Amino acid sequence: MTRDTQTAPVPVLILLGPPGAGKGTQARRLHEKFGLVQLSTGDLLRAAVAAGTPAGKAAQTVMQAGGLVSDEIVLTVLSDRLADPDCAAGVVLDGFPRTTAQAQALDEMLGRSGQRVNAAISLEVDSAGMVSRVVGRFTCGDCGEGYHDSFKPEKTSGVCDNCGGQNMTRRADDNAATVMSRLDAYHEQTAPLIAWYDKRGALWRVDAMGGIDKISADIAAVAAAHTTDRSHHAEAAL
Ligand code: AP5
Repeated sequence: MTRDTQTAPVPVLILLGPPGAGKGTQARRLHEKFGLVQLSTGDLLRAAVAAGTPAGKAAQTVMQAGGLVSDEIVLTVLSDRLADPDCAAGVVLDGFPRTTAQAQALDEMLGRSGQRVNAAISLEVDSAGMVSRVVGRFTCGDCGEGYHDSFKPEKTSGVCDNCGGQNMTRRADDNAATVMSRLDAYHEQTAPLIAWYDKRGALWRVDAMGGIDKISADIAAVAAAHTTDRSHHAEAAL
């Protein structure tokens, strides 16, 4: 597959996929390898909830039920963060956009500064396997490193392999019932974006059912085409 990578001043990548597909895991790796800023609307909304802002208060009930927060709230938190100077290095959007209205708003936002979405990377998974991935998940509250009871346990119980912190946390919405609702929301409102980006020539599909390192390598092949040499057409085979 070949994609034109010439026109965007900074790389803008999107990770699409249902809950548990590995968007957060892979976004952190793209940050480490390419310096892209990870913009997770889930993290931004959880921060707003924790801070008790009006947006956070409005989002909390919806998130606990596994639905989608209103486009208006999500676009406000995202556009505020996107305007921060560090985002000029390029961004990887994790969990955004999730509706066609959000995708259109993103195009408008980027278009104002002569940018566009370079690549929307669809993490292709078997949805049925995602419930166990999400329900077993926990995170280091100090450095953000992600873990899983079965697939990626920490070496010493309760201690982060990465930073040595002892502040492991689990998300309130990571229970089986809420994950089912989140999967429904994904299939009804977000999955149509795969065809939306395909039509615009920006879609890349990555098999995300294998090992994390192999998936990272496949994603890095796409990202490299948009971060290393942006003056030529680049080719990456998946
Ligand atoms: P958000 O925080 O975005 O959650 P999500 O989309 O449900 O995705 P997750 O974070 O659960 O999964 P992930 O794909 O990042 O997987 P991860 O890498 O952690 O959104 C939460 C809520 O906020 C939404 O429900 C909604 O209410 C609201 N919201 C957010 N954005 C919104 C928007 N734009 N519009 C409206 N509402 C919005 O991996 C999961 C686990 O699996 C981890 O333990 C990991 O270690 C493990 N793992 C990862 N990859 C693999 C692998 N290849 N093999 C085995 N294990 C793996």
